[in-house]
Amino acid sequence: MISQSKNPLIKDLVNRLRDIRITPKEFRHNLKLLAQLLCMEACSFSLTKKSIPTWIGQKEFSFIEQENIVVVAILRAALPMQEGLLELFPYARGGFLAMKRDETTFEAKLYYTRLPDIEGKNIIIVDPMVATGGSLKSALDILAAKKPASITTLHIVGVKEGLEYTNANHPNAHIHIAQIDAYLNEQKYIIPGLGDAGDRAFHT
Ligand code: PRP
Ligand code: URA
Repeated sequence: MISQSKNPLIKDLVNRLRDIRITPKEFRHNLKLLAQLLCMEACSFSLTKKSIPTWIGQKEFSFIEQENIVVVAILRAALPMQEGLLELFPYARGGFLAMKRDETTFEAKLYYTRLPDIEGKNIIIVDPMVATGGSLKSALDILAAKKPASITTLHIVGVKEGLEYTNANHPNAHIHIAQIDAYLNEQKYIIPGLGDAGDRAFHT
């Protein structure tokens, strides 16, 4: 399933990212905020009752099972998004899939993997950009094979073709995006997009 945010606050934050005058620090900060807002829109969590000590004695309240959440970042540009979600869920686990798009073939090449146990867990994949969809589809191939309970993916800007390609290969994943942009140029960059998100986040 593919869903796109309609929230004006999210739209405003995305459009602030398009301004090339913002600093890498501001760019990373907005990615972090957007990840938190997108998660609020798209991630469905069940609540479990736990007994905790309060000022009026031991009482039961409902909490999210954070230990069952795995936030997987597709390096590099997703790192601030992952940080934003791990601030919301301090007991969630983090995973890393490092991929780099070959700039001539546009294929995603995996160069590093570090994942905790995925089976039965609620996976949140973060990556700001979905262009051809190659990186996201490859990440889903790896994670879906490990039998998670659910997969939600959160993105800032993408195009229809990349999102539909990924969804066709992984219809059980919930792909949620802040903004679907117009098209890919000849270099497979999103137009209007953000430019190279990794370079802008890390000033390279
Ligand atoms: C960017 C982006 C995605 C990918 C999207 O990463 O963060 O992972 O491109 O393109 P696709 O949909 O065509 O696969 P990139 O490969 O530039 O690596 P970087 O984050 O290290 O700059
Ligand atoms: N990767 C980016 O960082 N930006 C794009 O527009 C496409 C892929």
